[in-house]
Amino acid sequence: MTVLPVIQPLPVHVAIIMDGNGRWAKDRHQPRLFGHKAGVDSVREIVEAAREIGIRHLTLYAFSTENWQRPGLEVKGLMMLLKTFLQAELDAMKKNGIRLDCFGQKERLPDDARAVLERVIAETADCPGLRLNLALSYGSRTEMLRAVREVGSRCAAGQLRPEEIDEQLFSGCLYSAGQPDPDLLIRTSGEQRLSNFLLWQLSYAELYFTETRWPDFRREQFFEALQIYASRQRRFGKTGEQVEKK
Ligand code: FPP
Repeated sequence: MTVLPVIQPLPVHVAIIMDGNGRWAKDRHQPRLFGHKAGVDSVREIVEAAREIGIRHLTLYAFSTENWQRPGLEVKGLMMLLKTFLQAELDAMKKNGIRLDCFGQKERLPDDARAVLERVIAETADCPGLRLNLALSYGSRTEMLRAVREVGSRCAAGQLRPEEIDEQLFSGCLYSAGQPDPDLLIRTSGEQRLSNFLLWQLSYAELYFTETRWPDFRREQFFEALQIYASRQRRFGKTGEQVEKK
């Protein structure tokens, strides 16, 4: 039996930019796909660890709208890894109550990967446990423009008045509708930027950057990030004294 650390408070929603697969592979004189394959093992381990410790929502940036510009073979390899990962994990997800969702342009994914993705989303729709969101062909600006278009067309159709548009309504038009904003963003591999990831939803998130490359980011490193999160004081614009009084 694995012993879980006691971490209080736990973030409800953790978002992760899984960076560094390519450099991890390069250090080992291997092709980039070798790094992505090792990255899938980290995905598996972190999903499991998140579920065990009691994280309710986990969002993983697996493929950005910009990633389509990568060499064709790398894109193909990533899509193949996605498909085999989902096929291999479906039973375990159902058994462990994990519900899958996709943030992003599902329609741009290759037919075979999209079909498996849609099947796993449908088959896990009633799972009551961890909500796992894979950001696939995802870009935050595109997501917000999509929301603006939806709001705009509802206004144009006379179903909505501009003064009725508030943060809650806008949030409800994003891929993350109905889910809380991330409390913690983790980015691996030393880069300190958001790369067009959840720009609206991350407004009040705590940011955690680590030099560890994604394939080396496992349970221990994940729990370390959660410990650091637990040690921070979140103020949401208030003073430290106001927060402490609560
Ligand atoms: C960033 O590393 C990683 C990606 C663009 C892809 C992430 C994909 C995986 C972890 C595997 C597939 C995921 C699933 C859910 C099956 P990089 O290639 O930009 O690394 P580099 O910055 O070192 O080149």
